[in-house]
Amino acid sequence: MINLFLIKPLKGFWVIGLILFLGACTSSTIVQKESNSRKQSFNQNWDFYLSGLKDEDSISDQTQWKSLDLPHDWSIETAFDKQSPVGHGGGYLTGGLGWYKKDFTVDKQDSSKRISIHFDGVYCNSEVWINGHYLGKRPNGYIGFEYDITPYLNFGQTNQILVKVDNSNQPNSRWYSGSGIYRNVWLKKTEKLYVVNWGTFITTPKVSKDQATVNVVTTIGNDNNEEKTAVLRTRVLKDGQEITQSEKEFLISSKANQELEQQLEINTPELWSDVSPELYTAISEILIEGNLIDQKKTNFGIRNFRFDLDKGFILNGVQTKIKGVCLHHDLGPLGAAVNTRAIERKLEIRKEMGVNGIRTAHNPPSPELLDLCDQMGFIVMDEAFDMWAHAKNPHDYATVWEQWHKKDLEDQILRDRNHPSVFMWSIGNEIPEQWSPEGAEIGRELSAIVKGLDTTRVVTAGMNPPIHVNNDEVTIQFEDTAAEPNALAGSGALDLIGYNYAHQTYEDHQKNFPNTPFIASETTSGLQTRGFYEFPSDTTKIWPVRWDLVFTQGNEDNTVSAFDQVRTPWGSLHEETWKIIKKHDFLSGMFVWTGFDYIGEPTPYQWPSRSSYFGIVDLAGFPKDVYYMYQSEWTDTPVLHVFPHWNWEEDTLVDLWVYYNNADEVELFLNGESLGVKSKEGDDLHLMWRVPYEKGTLKVVSRKDGKVVLEREVKTAGIASELSLTADRSTIYADGEDLSFITVGVMDENGVIVPRAADQISFTIDGPGKIVGVANGDPTNHESFKGQTHKAFNGKCLVVLQAGREKGNMVLTATAPGLKQSTINIQIK
Ligand code: GAL
Repeated sequence: MINLFLIKPLKGFWVIGLILFLGACTSSTIVQKESNSRKQSFNQNWDFYLSGLKDEDSISDQTQWKSLDLPHDWSIETAFDKQSPVGHGGGYLTGGLGWYKKDFTVDKQDSSKRISIHFDGVYCNSEVWINGHYLGKRPNGYIGFEYDITPYLNFGQTNQILVKVDNSNQPNSRWYSGSGIYRNVWLKKTEKLYVVNWGTFITTPKVSKDQATVNVVTTIGNDNNEEKTAVLRTRVLKDGQEITQSEKEFLISSKANQELEQQLEINTPELWSDVSPELYTAISEILIEGNLIDQKKTNFGIRNFRFDLDKGFILNGVQTKIKGVCLHHDLGPLGAAVNTRAIERKLEIRKEMGVNGIRTAHNPPSPELLDLCDQMGFIVMDEAFDMWAHAKNPHDYATVWEQWHKKDLEDQILRDRNHPSVFMWSIGNEIPEQWSPEGAEIGRELSAIVKGLDTTRVVTAGMNPPIHVNNDEVTIQFEDTAAEPNALAGSGALDLIGYNYAHQTYEDHQKNFPNTPFIASETTSGLQTRGFYEFPSDTTKIWPVRWDLVFTQGNEDNTVSAFDQVRTPWGSLHEETWKIIKKHDFLSGMFVWTGFDYIGEPTPYQWPSRSSYFGIVDLAGFPKDVYYMYQSEWTDTPVLHVFPHWNWEEDTLVDLWVYYNNADEVELFLNGESLGVKSKEGDDLHLMWRVPYEKGTLKVVSRKDGKVVLEREVKTAGIASELSLTADRSTIYADGEDLSFITVGVMDENGVIVPRAADQISFTIDGPGKIVGVANGDPTNHESFKGQTHKAFNGKCLVVLQAGREKGNMVLTATAPGLKQSTINIQIK
């Protein structure tokens, strides 16, 4: 038997493997069999129609349908519109109401099987029909759900699935949500005796260096008209090799579900951690008289952890600071449409910065994000809600809270509880009820729902702030409502007190909450525009001055200085919060708002700004300078980063900042002349020189024990003369999904980037692929993310290329008036 399969190593590329099997199956064929036949991608060949019509009868004669593949986000293709009802929160793009349909056949020979359709997430208010039969509605835009379609299928004939997606009631979100079937869809085929959806629960109640106990609870469904006797065999694999297995015979009644529990022992387990994300796989198999009936694969990890009142987060016995960032789900120019490589790239950029934690602000993430966090080693706070019964926006989830919150939260826990990367469940972010007894009551209800399904992780919530303090900056937002402590924080519902901001109160945590450990669920909210700088850099700007005051102080072009000098009134500068967190063991860690810029919430500005300024990395994926502050603190990688650029008016007094590590001193040279040696003192995290500008070359040299560690130069750029193209990957795979991210630079004739260049760049592509996104990191740009042209912003721009399903060579050409064009080849294998 010849089997062609894709292997996903830890980081990096999809690898196509070719394995020749002679005779007996090995474990890898079994794993593959599960993903190929049990669960098939159902993303291809859909028709889509964007309509104002809410009635399904009125769509039957529409001719406006267009063909597309999922995942799909229609909002990202709409124009930025100041009048858009989604407002600044949603980035001025548009929601609306869309219909999707797909014709498909299921073989006659499958007519004895159970067939279901599984959606990983549809934003929002989806309703689904199969062959005219109504299957149901799911208002929540972030949770997965599935329908059993067996009774309504015409086997061997054409069937039609129809999906209505209603994101027309706006505003319903505080950030860009996207619209449509923006996550993957699967068709699942099993026998009528099967492991139910999310039907495995794997825990590791005993973990030591020598041995781990793995507890597996499997829920089996029997849709047959008669009872069945069968065997459940659970096999555990490490790196494709079986290491142990357990069998259990069971009798299950007709039309029933049954839970079976098994325990397996693993000797000298390889423990999962953020630095060594070791994974195991459990294969759950149902056998009748030796014949394999169903087979389901679940990845898991073996690790133990606790949050300690004094020592913070302890992972496998090792004190580990959580150095996390908050993350919204959009993928910049790709919008909300899930793409595994795009998510992986975001995580790679964070890993390089030293991030080891992700908070999925403020909703259940895509399954792909959690799979990648398992593989790459991130400590995840998996968040459920941004509001409970009290709305933050007129049409948000609060409108369906009563009816849906229990089901949505239960499904999130069932879906995510095998991921070793998930350590914390957050039951809410800045919930309006947190100040009242109602908040305590709902908090206890939600915590009980979580604990009913998973007692192996901690429950928390992002509270703002958990404790009332006499500090204007912290309390000003809550003058009328502040209680002491916050009712949710004092409710007993939480295992971890989650602080949103309020860094001024962290050092008193043990006094205020002597029995509950600490996490900074959200911090900082610094503001920056990549590549834009204002002097002097050592004054702090609070933008806006107060959260409830209209912002009037900004720059005409809606820029914000990229020195770490601008913050929101509720937040801090980046350095401020980290300095406190790093000082005390009991402060288990932090999640910075935010790792990346995201579409929507352009605080402190509104129109024409349409995306955030909070990111440590901009919307195109280009790091802002503060990225290197974190890298110098959070990694052992040698860092020496000097900024800003070196193109100023003669005699401008320029502030130069340097982030560095692994060295005792840094010397600065301007045109060969030393401007002195400096070292960080006390808790400093950067150096600063104030230098009258003189065109030429700046050079910094870091030294340790007198030896040079690193050198960096910044040169004055001449006029723009050419374009440069650099790909993150120059070989990608012909799977119709893989991406190459290409950075476009505007350079002078010596190859120096022109720091404020804003040339209009056009792109053409030749070969079996397409341009799927363009972006430049400018929060005010209104060009389409889906166009073939984009302006450079502060010297840079990004183009995202996607492979088709054909192999070959794809050539991207970038041109701009007056500049030498550039081309790059991307191989599609
Ligand atoms: C927080 C909130 C986030 C985001 C942030 C901006 O209060 O939890 O969702 O709005 O403020 O600073």
